[in-house]
Amino acid sequence: MQFDADITGFLQAEALTQLIEDIRLQGYSIQDNLLDDSLVSRLQNEAESLDVSQMKLAGVGRKQDYIQEQDSRRDYICWLEDSHSAGRDFIQAMDLLKQILNRQFMLGLFDYESHYARYQAGGYYEKHLDAFKGKSNRVLSTVLYLNDNWQAEDAGEFVLFDEHDHEKEVGRYLPKKGRLAVFLSEDFPHQVIAANRQRHSIAGWFRINNSVSGTIDPTR
Ligand code: OGA
Ligand code: MN
Repeated sequence: MQFDADITGFLQAEALTQLIEDIRLQGYSIQDNLLDDSLVSRLQNEAESLDVSQMKLAGVGRKQDYIQEQDSRRDYICWLEDSHSAGRDFIQAMDLLKQILNRQFMLGLFDYESHYARYQAGGYYEKHLDAFKGKSNRVLSTVLYLNDNWQAEDAGEFVLFDEHDHEKEVGRYLPKKGRLAVFLSEDFPHQVIAANRQRHSIAGWFRINNSVSGTIDPTR
């Protein structure tokens, strides 16, 4: 598979090829160099500069049954909007990725929603799925990490579990700057181990369109 740099823009062609192979073979991929370094640095600055007043304590579930479940999750989020200048370029990069994935896998991905996330020291997210079969329009999850110099003793790992045996770990990944995790939202349980220092990321979801008779379905 060949991609020209001028077509891929903020995406690195080699990592893109690897990502597509991984998704095809195993349904998940961890890539350290997919996104352009300077974009990652701008996103990191934007994440760090968000004032806590612009963020909210994350909840679990969709709008209709929204609850702030602070026992399973402790992070602050801020949805990406056009007013975020680095965020805008990230959305453009992910939109291109969406088109490439649609061409490769016929997933019918319709849009992409994403938020900055800040875990303070001690922050964690218990094991969960991002989507339940038949109940969500989230198809493919992404998490981009935005932390300089993250060491093993900082903990805060992203832990991915097997799609069939939900007790079996398939990998543990430090939230290192530029690392991107991509996985099928309904299939892979995952968790965030408590971090020992502040931890920034962008979590996002490619979604299909389930709109029926006037109800716009993709909803937060
Ligand atoms: C999430 C999530 C993982 C991470 O926000 O749903 O699972 O490593 N995040 O931040
Ligand atoms: Mn998740």
